[in-house]
Amino acid sequence: MNELDSELVRGQLAALGYSFTPDADSADVVLYNTCSVREQAENKVLSRVGKIGIRKREGARVVLGLIGCLAEREGTPLLSRFPQIDLLCGPGELDRLPMLIDNALKTETVEAADRVALAGNRNRRTATLAAAADNLELLDLSRAFDPDGGGSGGPRHSAYVRITRGCNKFCTYCVVPFTRGAEVHRTPDAIVQECRRLADGGVVEITLLGQTVNHYLYTHGVALGVNGQEVPQVGPGGSAFTRSGPRGANGRRVTTFAGLLGRIHEEVPSLRRLRFVTCFPRDFGDDILRVMRDCPRICRYLHAPVQSGSDRILRLMNRGYTSGEYLEFIDRARDILPDISIAGDVIVGFPTETEHDFGQTADLLGRVRFKNNFIFKYSPRPGTTAWDRLPDDVPTDVKRRRNNDLLALQAGISATVHAEQVGRTVEVFVEGLSRRENSRAAGRVELGWERPRGRIQMSGRTAGDLITVFDLPPDGKPETLQGRIVPVRVLRAAPLVLFGCLEASTRSLAKQTVAVHRSGITQLEI
Ligand code: 5AD
Ligand code: SF4
Repeated sequence: MNELDSELVRGQLAALGYSFTPDADSADVVLYNTCSVREQAENKVLSRVGKIGIRKREGARVVLGLIGCLAEREGTPLLSRFPQIDLLCGPGELDRLPMLIDNALKTETVEAADRVALAGNRNRRTATLAAAADNLELLDLSRAFDPDGGGSGGPRHSAYVRITRGCNKFCTYCVVPFTRGAEVHRTPDAIVQECRRLADGGVVEITLLGQTVNHYLYTHGVALGVNGQEVPQVGPGGSAFTRSGPRGANGRRVTTFAGLLGRIHEEVPSLRRLRFVTCFPRDFGDDILRVMRDCPRICRYLHAPVQSGSDRILRLMNRGYTSGEYLEFIDRARDILPDISIAGDVIVGFPTETEHDFGQTADLLGRVRFKNNFIFKYSPRPGTTAWDRLPDDVPTDVKRRRNNDLLALQAGISATVHAEQVGRTVEVFVEGLSRRENSRAAGRVELGWERPRGRIQMSGRTAGDLITVFDLPPDGKPETLQGRIVPVRVLRAAPLVLFGCLEASTRSLAKQTVAVHRSGITQLEI
């Protein structure tokens, strides 16, 4: 979500003539897009804010802005705590960011009185209604899509498209319902239109974004904008859904998530890959699984965070499902889509978690056989129900140990899942040079080395989101493969990476030259 917001802000600012630099020290405006989900992310950004404070005290003239969830959650008190911050802008106000920056730049030496906070000053309901209003919608729709990728290392071939904002689930540990407001669903037409524009601009892969995408539900004809056109609307509660799909809406026409996927697949045929994150494990209807099965360009990939394998902890987290129900969902998914690849999130050390609860989470990991899992140590977040009602009683060293144990367990499972691909030919969407190449390149720049001769390693992802690296043929050019989907034969596997070689039929393709237009001015650093 934050990445998409950064992308939209970047597009908005680029359209106004701002250029970007990877070097914060040389910038006139520094913006940090902040995340409040875990404390660690907050601490990191506040430490950077501290460093800019020192520079400003030493005379540097730079406008410093915080955007995103932290700005929304903390609001104006942050300005008193950190006088070096010139502006705050929550995720629901991003359309007004250029105006805030402009004001801050014009006032040059920004006095305290001029500092502005468009955040934390409204309750959840007004924030939601504002999000449903046209301005934010326009930010999504008017994204200044730059097929060159804004100098970020080559043309852009994958993009995010938001389908819902906010969240109604109120998991007891989570700040998102407070920082991003209630769930607001964009109109299907706006989403399809945005996907079409991106595909027409050369995007190969689109990821639909929402906190719980399977709860996407748009009821047509209920609320229209001033010109009679459909507008974003607040999403329904969980009772609107059944296992086979959403319930009827009193005879009104609805677009479900399954319907939306089907529409994009059909109406944007030039799009090669369509994927989505994140799924909520409850209410994932068979209708969605069937559309995935019937539409070959929809990736067989689900990111479905389980959070815990203990029913007691799941209840305390207010997740609304049991581990048995989660497993039943995974079985249904594998019945309908045998090659589905599943990733998840887990929190260890949630208040009152015992060794027994933790053991149940470990068992569940083994049963689901996730391709990978993001494992987090519980971090109490102010404003959440858990912060108010459940003391953070699992000691830090126990959290750390459980985290390490699950990482080790998951590494073994990931290794098996990846090893099953050895010998197969997989379709890889080539993203660019592999991390190894990028760090070698950085070393060369720093140390002034000449580019060494030898193989160049490329990296991409399968439709099941497995990272795959392969050598570029000796006479190949990286830019001819970047952004393409190519067949790669898998030769060996590590826990999180497949190693392969380009299928013979594609090797000649790597040699062709294509005209790649680069503006060369912008860098992504928000
Ligand atoms: N502490 C630890 N992890 C958290 N997550 C969300 N809130 C917290 C928290 N307070 C994790 C969940 C979620 C992911 C995005 O971050 O696993 O799925
Ligand atoms: Fe947070 Fe739960 Fe909503 Fe996910 S579903 S964003 S964890 S409240």
